[in-house]
Amino acid sequence: MSQPKIVAFAGSLRTGSFNKKLLALAAEAARAAGAEVTVVDLRELALPLFDQDIEDASGLPEGAKKFKALLRASDGFLIASPEYNSSITAALKNAIDWASRAESDDEPPLAAFRGKAAALFAASPGALGGLRGLVHVRAILGNIGVNVLPDQMTVSKAHEAFNPDGSLKDEKSAARAKKLGAGLAQHLAKLLA
Ligand SMILES: Cc1cc2nc3c(=O)[nH]c(=O)nc-3n(C[C@H](O)[C@H](O)[C@H](O)COP(=O)(O)O)c2cc1C
Repeated sequence: MSQPKIVAFAGSLRTGSFNKKLLALAAEAARAAGAEVTVVDLRELALPLFDQDIEDASGLPEGAKKFKALLRASDGFLIASPEYNSSITAALKNAIDWASRAESDDEPPLAAFRGKAAALFAASPGALGGLRGLVHVRAILGNIGVNVLPDQMTVSKAHEAFNPDGSLKDEKSAARAKKLGAGLAQHLAKLLA
């Protein structure tokens, strides 16, 4: 049986991002469940805003190529994202848009996404924990061929939810994050068996 490969990324670029913290917990649980997990910080990819003139002139920027190659080589994604104005963040949508582009005529459409599975997480200081944004993230991923797991996990009052070491204060929330991270790894392991 081959080891499931997962790429984990957050929809926030912020250094102290609550979603990056939540993602790290999910990634750790997926690793403990047997997956190989690569965490990507979208800020480090330095993606320009998608512009078809850039694409026409010089193809995908280096960061987009790297991100897309990682997604293509993976079996699934862990994504933790805040909602901005009740929807997907621009950073996350921009990364998806770049990675959705073919680099040659013989490349299958949406090669980075079709047939992959994903688990979604969100954290926000508000009461809804980013829940409304995940509705849009789920719809977008579904439309480009990603099987998004029905379960998802949100952390409300995120500014009060984490210990200084990045762990979640609430044991039930910590268990849910762990269960969903491990759940994606287990789901992929079954598909690869
Ligand atoms: C442009 C913008 C719009 C936002 N809109 C919402 C929102 O609709 N709902 C919400 O719960 N929080 C909203 N927030 C607050 C974010 O959830 C908060 O900044 C959060 O900490 C961002 O996630 P991060 O900690 O992973 O960076 C918004 C923040 C920004 C910058």
